[in-house]
Amino acid sequence: MNKIAISLLALAALCAAQPATWFPPEQMMTIGVYYYPEAWPESQWERDISNIKKFGFEYIHLAEFAWAFMEPEEGRFEFGWLDKNVALAHKYGLKVILCTPSATPPAWLARKHPEILMIRDDGTRMNHGSREQADWSSPVYRAYVEKIVAKMAERYGTNPTVWGWQLDNEMSHYGQGMSYAPAAQDKFRAWLREKYGTVARLNTDWGNAFWSQMYNHFDDVQMPNARELVANPNPHAMLDLHRWFAAEAADYFRLQTSVLRRYVKNQWITSNFMMNYYLTNPALSEKDFDIMSFTMYPVSGGLFRGDLGFRMGDPAQVSFTHDLLRNLGSGIEGPMELQPGQVNWAPVNPWPQPGVVHAWIMRAFGLGARFVCVYRYRQPLFGDELYHKTMVEPDGVTLAPGGKEFVQSIQEVQALRKLYRPNAPQPKDYAARRTAFLYNWDNRWDMENHKQTIRWDTMDHWLKYYRALKSVMAPVDVISEEKDFSKYPFVVAPSYQLIDKELIARFTKYAESGGTLILTCRSGQKDRRGHIWESLWAEPIYDLVGAAIPKYDVLPEGRDGKVSAMGKSYAWGSWGDILEPREGTEVLATYADQFYKGSAAATRHKLGKGQVVYIGVDSITGELEADLLADVYKTAARLPLNFMVDWRDGFWVATNFTDTHQKIPAAAGAKVLVGARTIPPGGVAIWQ
Ligand code: GAL
Repeated sequence: MNKIAISLLALAALCAAQPATWFPPEQMMTIGVYYYPEAWPESQWERDISNIKKFGFEYIHLAEFAWAFMEPEEGRFEFGWLDKNVALAHKYGLKVILCTPSATPPAWLARKHPEILMIRDDGTRMNHGSREQADWSSPVYRAYVEKIVAKMAERYGTNPTVWGWQLDNEMSHYGQGMSYAPAAQDKFRAWLREKYGTVARLNTDWGNAFWSQMYNHFDDVQMPNARELVANPNPHAMLDLHRWFAAEAADYFRLQTSVLRRYVKNQWITSNFMMNYYLTNPALSEKDFDIMSFTMYPVSGGLFRGDLGFRMGDPAQVSFTHDLLRNLGSGIEGPMELQPGQVNWAPVNPWPQPGVVHAWIMRAFGLGARFVCVYRYRQPLFGDELYHKTMVEPDGVTLAPGGKEFVQSIQEVQALRKLYRPNAPQPKDYAARRTAFLYNWDNRWDMENHKQTIRWDTMDHWLKYYRALKSVMAPVDVISEEKDFSKYPFVVAPSYQLIDKELIARFTKYAESGGTLILTCRSGQKDRRGHIWESLWAEPIYDLVGAAIPKYDVLPEGRDGKVSAMGKSYAWGSWGDILEPREGTEVLATYADQFYKGSAAATRHKLGKGQVVYIGVDSITGELEADLLADVYKTAARLPLNFMVDWRDGFWVATNFTDTHQKIPAAAGAKVLVGARTIPPGGVAIWQ
């Protein structure tokens, strides 16, 4: 099939998609649960499924990881057990999400074709006995995946109880990096050949004149692998490796979607992305998935902020993911997996703060999520995840504490549905703070490949701004730069290191036309290949910023610097751009020590009808960023970091992820529907 025919097919599939029927707006959010019938005696299936219905769930998620049950031997397919469970779901009025089992190839496949197994960066071949061990580049593996997906799709693609499909699971190799097997090496080289055409161009873009890295043929190129290199890998080759890996993963997804689309009718397709790992894959777009979903385990060993952070997780990380995924595809997104209690896989697995499962569900609600699915219904009695809390206790019937919070949330959503007002307009002040948060995955990869200081963490820097935006109660759309950002009153483009003349021109035009553009440290230093400009340091953005950025500093661990702004002092350590404002550019923050004491750390430049704010320093706690944004957004009082309030379908939703009680910003006459006017840590309030 040629490229035009494929695009036409994709377009036809999109036109056939019906998000409004799949997710009726008046339902707002629907809640479901994972169930693995293959692990339980058949005699318990009906009891479990009828209880799931009784608890108020509206759908179940089946068949993930069940390849060995659907194809116990090569070519012998057994779907009787799945048919029975789909039929039970139908009997009890539950919809079904089916999952392709490609994350867990059966033992017979690995024995027969060891070449389907990934090879880690240290040369170790992965083996059967866990999951995600297959190499997505292997043509043999792809052929087997195609076969099992086709069998499932043929059988269930028109079953009216089946609502949608999830592909694979958290596509990644769980911390094992990428596969360096021969099939992957071949595909990487083919991708480079297609991208560069000639090896001379690759030599230029990769800067191979450095350390005699020149190649004579594409066949000489290997995937850069730090484990095989004595000194640091080539940063430009690393950037391409990430780009290729994203493209390769997308290609593997497309293999599965193209099979499904041949059979399914009126069923949606998604995959569940990991919240803080890939987030999503920049090589995928709205053409690939009907809806977007992610997996959400906020309490998994991290300390986060404050005394209770380890029991409540980071609301910025969770919320950022919602705001990112909503802007991909049809706008329908939600967590496909939400933790209902302790997990088993983090270095330490504490008990979550009582109430916080409810708070995560309502945080999702406040951000406009259309579904939440809990991972999982029954606590396994065997296997790696037997310590994992679930909806019910190990007896299979008694609601666990997290299960009770789910049932409470289901009942609240059902009550809120009665108050749903179609097309309720966003409150004016809130809409006036609408912000586009621009991301470009190349920036993240390049900065993470080549940090210049171990104190730099790109995601932490992005989330500092996201958290600050929530503290000024801004509705945020996390979008890529290809999208039209001109309609947003505010654009935040943090640490935008890779840039080109066209984007600088778009930024300039945006500000001149009245927008407020907020840029942050490390911006504008390199071109899209990751080469620095043959100019003064970051000079291409001086006119936009209204200041020169002749130097930056980074400080060793334990030697924090000081910045002053608005009469307060803040500590920093990871990155400080030292600015030289031009005449007319206002200074918003100043370094208070080091040899550049008194130099500008943040500036505001009026440009046409708008302004460009440059915040060149990365503070430790994020309070500086939040205070500066409160000034730029002209908000009288900002909320404490991690106390987040959003608006959805006519409802205000507050969730408290701080260590202390918080008062909700509700008008005196507002009607509080859930919670109270003051809420505890892990508390929720909803009002109209
Ligand atoms: C997720 C994964 C699930 C399950 C869960 C347990 O990361 O997608 O399959 O393993 O963790 O918390």
